[in-house]
Amino acid sequence: MAERGWALVTGCSSGIGRALVAELRAAGWGVVATARRVETLADLADGDDLKRLALDVTSETSLAQAVQACEGFRLTALVNNAGYGQMGPLELLRPDEMRVQFETNVVGLHATTRAFLPLIRKNALPREGRIVHVGSVLGRLSIPMAGAYNASKHAVTALGETLRLEIGDSIPVILVEPGAIKTQFRATLKQAWGDLPERSQGTPYEAAILRYAQKREDFAAQHGLSAEACAHRIVRAMASRRPPRRVVVGMDSLLGQMAYRFLPISLVEYVLRRNYR
Ligand SMILES: NC(=O)c1ccc[n+]([C@@H]2O[C@H](COP(=O)([O-])OP(=O)(O)OC[C@H]3O[C@@H](n4cnc5c(N)ncnc54)[C@H](OP(=O)(O)O)[C@@H]3O)[C@@H](O)[C@H]2O)c1
Repeated sequence: MAERGWALVTGCSSGIGRALVAELRAAGWGVVATARRVETLADLADGDDLKRLALDVTSETSLAQAVQACEGFRLTALVNNAGYGQMGPLELLRPDEMRVQFETNVVGLHATTRAFLPLIRKNALPREGRIVHVGSVLGRLSIPMAGAYNASKHAVTALGETLRLEIGDSIPVILVEPGAIKTQFRATLKQAWGDLPERSQGTPYEAAILRYAQKREDFAAQHGLSAEACAHRIVRAMASRRPPRRVVVGMDSLLGQMAYRFLPISLVEYVLRRNYR
């Protein structure tokens, strides 16, 4: 029997990353659970199928240390899950906020892929390796007030599609496109917007910004899937002999993408403007 394959997951302190740890272990993988603060992983159940590692995807040093720590065992999969949402209308968004958003969601994802790919290549049999990018429905369409995040997830889509063209013959690349998932995401979103509410005072965006976060929170609470359901879909895709190129998670993601594709764009824009006005 082939030795167990290990999957490294970024951003396991909460949400989808945390749920992936349990789902992957239940499916027979060894899991390298990583987080910026490794102490957030302390409550994961110990076992010979779990390793905890500190990993900040924006730090080259942290990445190099994590790669070194993985050299002793058979890493065959990487799940690029770490990410956050930088909200705010583009007119008010500081270039530095855009930079930091891209540093984590895009450059960090690329740096992580580049760092672990040689190990996966070395360990995995042909078509056994897996690279998973957790993108978003907002990597296929855009909503107002989330320009930085939309742009970062569109970039993730492009990186996934490009990587698949380059290495997909030997290592399948899976792009995950969730809609609303009930996680810390929306709480983190409010932290990341910093002084945006004050900055928006007296601008045409003031009222919309205050309503915005609440609206997304309410939507996720009502219609969002659980992190476990999302993780389950991801692991099922990873386990498939012929992994899907895209995993659209949630009816909102599916319907949003269909509307964007098949309805007149003027109608889509009208609905989105009304919704986020
Ligand atoms: N929730 C949704 O509705 C939704 C929808 C579509 C896509 N997504 C995507 O799903 C992924 C997971 O998000 P989530 O919903 O599970 O949110 P979450 O609960 O906020 O989890 C995000 C994770 O990313 C980690 N992270 C952030 N910056 C990092 C960095 N520089 N290095 C390493 N880890 C970092 C966070 O760690 P810390 O605890 O250290 O901050 C946390 O573990 C993200 O890529 C997100 O864009 C989420």
